[in-house]
Amino acid sequence: MTSTQSPTAQSRFPAGRLAFPHRDLTGIGQLERHEILYLLDQAEQWVELNRQSTKHADLLAGLTIINAFFENSTRTLLSFEIAGKRLGADVVNMHAAQSSVKKGETLIDTAITLNAMRPDAIVIRHGSSGATQLIADKVDCPVLNAGDGQHEHPTQALLDALALRHKLRERGDSGDDFTGLTITICGDILHSRVARSNILCLQAMGASVRVCAPPALMPSGIDVLGVEPLHDFDAALRNADVVMMLRLQTERMEGQFIPSAREYHHLYGLTNARLAFAAGDAIVMHPGPMNRGVEIDSDVADMLDRSIITQQVEMGVAIRMACLDILTRRVRGVEGWA
Ligand code: NCD
Repeated sequence: MTSTQSPTAQSRFPAGRLAFPHRDLTGIGQLERHEILYLLDQAEQWVELNRQSTKHADLLAGLTIINAFFENSTRTLLSFEIAGKRLGADVVNMHAAQSSVKKGETLIDTAITLNAMRPDAIVIRHGSSGATQLIADKVDCPVLNAGDGQHEHPTQALLDALALRHKLRERGDSGDDFTGLTITICGDILHSRVARSNILCLQAMGASVRVCAPPALMPSGIDVLGVEPLHDFDAALRNADVVMMLRLQTERMEGQFIPSAREYHHLYGLTNARLAFAAGDAIVMHPGPMNRGVEIDSDVADMLDRSIITQQVEMGVAIRMACLDILTRRVRGVEGWA
């Protein structure tokens, strides 16, 4: 296993530019298309490793990674932990419920405290948009955003792109260019950092993105991002090549945004009958956690040939391994870190 650039990846960079010239990964908004492709290309070696019975590389041996999660998480926390461990790092998880945050410590003081323990990377999930950047500005090591409020969730968008690329490759496409693909993202767009990161990532990869939500869950002015906002789900699905469903982020809602889960399902739930409006072989995605029977029906979520929801989880570990490898190259003295 090597952490150096693959010939494919190398040939994608503008001449004389470094592959990944960023210390932190705070959002997709900071990345250029060739940097996204570099991360995807680098993740491929980890997809392969993760499919072996022995899943260990020692690239990060001796390094300490702190996963500081101020919000609940199952798949993101677990996959960052597995990613760090498979690369040989010492991984420590900090949960907000057990931390001094509950004792009134400010985010900046928490950042200074974590930094004093000399981690080599910090992964942050926080309920406030911009919290990752705030911490990144206060610490000496790379910071990775594992979801900050309604802002961004960059590794989710990257793993989604990788899962989609794999599915397109299975169908004989190179999967490197999403030009010509229409992707419909439906659900609680207003509160979703996944939607925002995916809009930026999918567009950078060339796709046309439609967003669909009830009026109360559609951010005003979202069209400035170059997406087509729609409230009618059937219209939003028409000829879509990919349908990405999102959970209602009730934990971020103050007050009533939808009349009832039943009503929501009636208008915005992805059912088998509704999927028929999309392209014949449309791919179904969901970042999880799913609320079956609300935004998506089980028979759609579990479609073996169309749904890539499980593959998204699989790709999550590989993408996070790639991000941890690339962002710690500087401290490891690996050439080409940026
Ligand atoms: C998403 C998140 O936390 O933003 N989940 C995830 O990371 N897989 C989406 C969600 O919670 O609905």
